[in-house]
Amino acid sequence: MSKKFIKTYEDGPVGVIELNRPEVLNALNRQMIDEIVAQLEDYQRNSAIRVIMMKGNGKAFAAGADIEEMKNDTPTSMELADPFAVWDRIASIKKPIITAVNGFALGGGFELALHCDLIVASEDAKFGFPEVKLGVMPGAGGTQLLSKAIGQRKALEWIWLGEQMSANEALELGAINRVTSKELVEEETMRLAHQLAEQAPLSLRLIKEAVDVSSDVPLREGMKLERKNFYLLFDSQDQSEGMQAFVEKRPPHFKGE
Ligand code: CAA
Repeated sequence: MSKKFIKTYEDGPVGVIELNRPEVLNALNRQMIDEIVAQLEDYQRNSAIRVIMMKGNGKAFAAGADIEEMKNDTPTSMELADPFAVWDRIASIKKPIITAVNGFALGGGFELALHCDLIVASEDAKFGFPEVKLGVMPGAGGTQLLSKAIGQRKALEWIWLGEQMSANEALELGAINRVTSKELVEEETMRLAHQLAEQAPLSLRLIKEAVDVSSDVPLREGMKLERKNFYLLFDSQDQSEGMQAFVEKRPPHFKGE
């Protein structure tokens, strides 16, 4: 797929996706989302890539879905194009996805960040769901993912009011993981990505699966899946390597096998 609205590059084991429509604050049109999802799937298939990092540029991570593109839509055109269906494929990416949020992460931009596993924000980042001010509502998972992250009551207040929140407020609520200075946000996110890339890849993958199901299934079911994943890891070379390295008092060298 052509890459008109994103840039991509690899930094060792980290595959980077940079949103690239700065002239409209990285507003997410449909082709851009298609490109992001296709690239995530490419990185998923690429065994040299262990962690995926997403980032914005200029003044924004992303200021939402492209209002220009959807302003004349009808329920029928929406149903036929089903523009948000492609977002579901992000949930099947098994590698860690971490995102650096600079500036605005609004509407679909905030939803894209919430689809990632970890969020690092610059101190000037602004998070929010302004859809209510456009006479609509979040449509790419915002009501669900934010409620899951911070609880229903706070999510409802935030989405109803449509107000922007600072990175520190988002951090206090548990909507994001870390806040850094504007200058260091990419560096800090990349450092975290490399730190994750050192861990045993199969462990990361099965931990992600277990944590992801935790809010969708009853406790006992989640615990059963966790136990199975734990047992499964004993078939991996990385389990032998990790435990042998501990006994030999040396750092482990994980291969993802
Ligand atoms: N869609 C299309 N274009 C957008 C956009 C968007 N979501 N956000 C910004 N732009 C464009 C502006 O139209 C403007 O273009 P021009 O230079 O051609 O006029 C350019 O980006 C720069 O934006 P501003 O001049 O508005 O910049 P600002 O610094 O004054 O304001 C802002 C920044 C507060 C983010 C403001 O741009 C804004 O409110 N944007 C819209 C935010 C929004 O409502 N997002 C939700 C979209 S709906 C959605 O996302 C649904 C969903 O669930 C998927």
